[in-house]
Amino acid sequence: MPRKLAAGNWKMNGTPAALTEVAALCAAHSAPGVDVLLCPPATLLAQMAAATQDHALMVGGQDCHANASGAHTGDISAQMLKAAGAGAVITGHSERRTDHGETDADVSAKSQAAYDAGLIAVICIGETLDERESGTTLSVIDTQLAGSIPDNATAANTVIAYEPVWAIGTGKVPTTAQIGEVHAHIRARLAARFSDAADMRLLYGGSVKASNADDIFAVADVDGALVGGASLKASDFGPIITALSNA
Ligand code: 13P
Repeated sequence: MPRKLAAGNWKMNGTPAALTEVAALCAAHSAPGVDVLLCPPATLLAQMAAATQDHALMVGGQDCHANASGAHTGDISAQMLKAAGAGAVITGHSERRTDHGETDADVSAKSQAAYDAGLIAVICIGETLDERESGTTLSVIDTQLAGSIPDNATAANTVIAYEPVWAIGTGKVPTTAQIGEVHAHIRARLAARFSDAADMRLLYGGSVKASNADDIFAVADVDGALVGGASLKASDFGPIITALSNA
């Protein structure tokens, strides 16, 4: 069984004042069997890493450049994230794919850069509403899986996050049957390619809240969650972590 993972993606939210939430989470958080990852904006990474160094809470980036260094104004390399205290980085989030035109090949290159820097890549995939309604969800997932994951992915360096685009920040959540169908499909596709696929962590993401966490975590092949809005406050994220621990 993969070890459970509760990951929070703060997106473009948070100034140093928000670090009180992390302190509250660390103080309250005791969830045996669950790894916790928080991905703040890059401006908070080093401070958050320092604030959590005595706790079993990992911090991570939200994106990295595919290159280790160079003339790329505004970008951040995986090595830089690592040096700031990160243990992981999200790659291929749908907001990056949409806002910055990132392709599967870009996501694969960024994930490889993460491995090279010693970071876990949390690789995001998921269909749009149009794709869901036209019945192409599983083929879209297949294309993203094939193109976004480097060949040297392992259960130790890779987490896959299934985030239906239409469920992100909308309050709309797929049925547990829909989540289960996609997660089982992802597991089977990974198993055809990677010998340790059974241990790769598959996260569900999209409008996860304390109120729906129990149902989502009961679905087979769901090893945790990638949480956006509900990861910003300890009072929201803490109960999700507890639900995962109890699942
Ligand atoms: P929400 O939990 O706010 O829907 O965001 C999900 C997400 O995109 C996490 O990466």
